[in-house]
Amino acid sequence: MVEPTQPPSTDAVASVPGVPVIPAAVHLRDGENGVPVTETFYEQVGGHATFAKLVHEFYVGVADDPVLKPMYPEEDLGPAEERLTLFLEQYWGGPGTYSAHRGHPRLRMRHQPFKVNPDARDRWLAHMRHAVDTLALSPLHDATLWDYLERAAFAMVNTFDD
Ligand code: HEM
Repeated sequence: MVEPTQPPSTDAVASVPGVPVIPAAVHLRDGENGVPVTETFYEQVGGHATFAKLVHEFYVGVADDPVLKPMYPEEDLGPAEERLTLFLEQYWGGPGTYSAHRGHPRLRMRHQPFKVNPDARDRWLAHMRHAVDTLALSPLHDATLWDYLERAAFAMVNTFDD
């Protein structure tokens, strides 16, 4: 019988022959059962206070945006602010509260009801760029966060209609 050379993976894309599959949540530890010695990105940039400020500044911009604001089903942007904060915190290694409340993110599917064309994307990104600037992160943290936000926003476009 041929022994498997790596643990079974449910993610076919991540499985490359000869390359061990490493669970994403592994941290370097101080000894076999020691405390983690690597911080998550969430911790490195300042934890909840940083993500709460980021999303708050972003929604200050959205509140004044004539294209984006009407898309939001609720007049009060507070609940949307909380959902995006929880999602980003979870994504960057903070508490998993988003999925506990909302289930699997399925972000493209959740954006289907909204007309996310290149204009909406660019407006979203402009408010987010301003919000990221208010955090004054280190250049590396800024670039890491921005790279993700930009790719995510491009991936969310679901129409090229005006
Ligand atoms: C590209 C332009 C985008 C537009 C116009 C847009 C617009 C919207 C709107 C109108 C909602 C509904 C408000 C709500 O009920 O929460 C929403 C929800 C949400 N958006 Fe976006 N969005 C965009 C990009 C993104 C990106 C890039 C992300 C992630 C990085 C994101 C994450 C979320 C999350 C987490 C929710 C709440 C989903 C839920 O749990 O129901 N959005 N968005």
